[in-house]
Order: sequence, then C-alpha cells, then structure tokens
Amino acid sequence: MAKRHAFVLTLLLLVALINSATAWTFHPKMHIHMINNLWPGTPLNLHCKSADDDLGWKEVRYNEEYNWTFTDNFIRSTMFWCNLNWLGGDRKRRWQSFEVYSKSVKCDKNCFWSSRGDGIYFFDYQKQDYFRLFEWNYV
Ligand SMILES: *[C@@H]1O[C@H](CO)[C@@H](O)[C@H](O)[C@H]1NC(C)=O
Repeated sequence: MAKRHAFVLTLLLLVALINSATAWTFHPKMHIHMINNLWPGTPLNLHCKSADDDLGWKEVRYNEEYNWTFTDNFIRSTMFWCNLNWLGGDRKRRWQSFEVYSKSVKCDKNCFWSSRGDGIYFFDYQKQDYFRLFEWNYV
C-alpha cells in the first residue's frame, strides 16, 4: 500500500513540475497586423504604442499592412493601443482609437485588424472570420 502511495505522490509531483516548467517558459511571441482594406488609393495613417514602445506614425497603402512582433511577459500584461485615421472621398477625416492587444483581446499568435470603409474588423480565430468591432468617428 505504501509503495502505491509513493507512486501516486511521485506522479503528482511530476505533473506539478511539468506544469510549472511550461508556465515559466510561456513567453508567447505575438504578431500584430494592421491591414488597410479601405479603398484603392486611400492610405491609412496609424500610430501604435505600448507603455514601453512608441512605434510612431505609419502610412499604410491600400491592401497592405503594418505589422510588428513582440514577446509578452508571463502575466500577459503588455498592452498596445493604436490611433487610426484616413481621409474619405467626401474630404472628411475618420478616426478611431482602441486597444489592439491586451489580455482581453483574444488572438492566437497573430492579431489581425482590418480597416474597412464601414469600420474596423477583428479576426476571430475561433470562428475563423472577421467581425466589425468599431465604427469610424468623424473629425
Ligand atoms: C508585414 O508587413 C510587410 C509590409 O510592411 C509585409 O511585406 C509582410 O508580408 C508582413 N508580414 C506578415 C507576416 O504578414
């Protein structure tokens, strides 16, 4: 009986050890993709930053994307925000500002944000489809 208990205890210890080992090595490498799917000839201006990094203003041409990679920390506390704007055919500028990455943004290893005429779409990897999460504000 004692032998059996020792075996179960060893097994439990092993499971706990493997568990913590994977947890401590879990530093996911994340890729953020900001895609311009607006209109041909319409550039998308964007400015993304985290608490530590300011990526600066970028201009993304139609059907192209701006992307970057970073390693999140163990507690997944990294957050990135972006400011987006573009000039419509009516000469009015649209903008939107939102969290592109945080614990509550559910991406796999890649977060895809697609800017379209009627708003900003986020790729839901579980449903394997884009859904509109934000509409555009007008200046
Ligand atoms: C990242 O963006 C560049 C253009 O800025 C593009 O050429 C490249 O294919 C993109 N990378 C990925 C992994 O989509």
